[in-house]
Amino acid sequence: MKGQACGKVILFGEHAVVYGIPAIAVGINHGTQAWVEKKEQFPSQFTIMGSDQTVTDQQDSLISQAFHRILEAVAIDFPVQARVQTELPPAAGLGCSATMAVALVDALVQLKQEHPSRQEIAQMAGAWEDVFHGTASGIDACVAAHGGAIWFQRGATPVPMHLRTSLHLAIGESGVASSTKRMVESLARLRERKPEMVKNSFEAIESLVRNARVALESSDLNTLGKLLDLNQMLLAGLFLSSKEIETLCGLARDAGALGAKLTGAGGGGCVVALCEDNPQPVLDAWQAAGFSGFSTVVASNAATRIARERSAS
Ligand code: PMV
Repeated sequence: MKGQACGKVILFGEHAVVYGIPAIAVGINHGTQAWVEKKEQFPSQFTIMGSDQTVTDQQDSLISQAFHRILEAVAIDFPVQARVQTELPPAAGLGCSATMAVALVDALVQLKQEHPSRQEIAQMAGAWEDVFHGTASGIDACVAAHGGAIWFQRGATPVPMHLRTSLHLAIGESGVASSTKRMVESLARLRERKPEMVKNSFEAIESLVRNARVALESSDLNTLGKLLDLNQMLLAGLFLSSKEIETLCGLARDAGALGAKLTGAGGGGCVVALCEDNPQPVLDAWQAAGFSGFSTVVASNAATRIARERSAS
């Protein structure tokens, strides 16, 4: 059985989303596939293709524990052989880890001939995210399962957003791995030390997320770009940016992007830049400065390639 999940970029509201503030994220045309089959004997086995990493569900490593939790969440009581293959760089803020969990659950429920909703799949995948992140908001797994553009608020039903125009995005890689858990913990410590400052930043982020929804739904790309820049400023004020992120954002703006910001946990990982149409000048500017990147289009019909393939299969 084959399962799939799409990677994501958070356009607005990362970190604040952990504390209940809404966020907007979109599925991208890069993702992860999983294959599962029944096996003769326990233990169940899990392989990340291309990384030479194979674990069983009975070992001590985090990946093994996460695999075990997924098998429990889907109530698999027979031995399985599972493999995943991802197009996403790890620890880059594109939701690589969540896509593995969602693709695995997607394949496992098919093996059991069950048909849970996409939301139920995302919830089962949460068991994996808990092992790695502890305090994950669930936004990564939600977008990995649904694709498209999502209005996400912790504890509430996610709302698919209807875009009236396609979004042309350039994604730039800082080349520095980032640990979501570490970045979330560093913000929690700052919040303990300076509660008023973090509260003010979260309020500002909430107001720009709400404005971004209006801009997105009315195809106001210029405003959207400015809101991305503002969100980046607020994230930098919370010490979540880095030298490489600021360089990537600056290069993107100079090359004509309407706005740019870090996406995901920050401290490294990736930057997202909104382009009016062709993202190539931004990609060229990044490449000239030694950074890699790729472009992705979020279609106005709010589907992603991976989501489309899934519904076609
Ligand atoms: O870095 P990523 O792709 O895991 O994104 C994390 C987003 C955060 O808001 C920082 C954490 C979360 O759980 O929402």
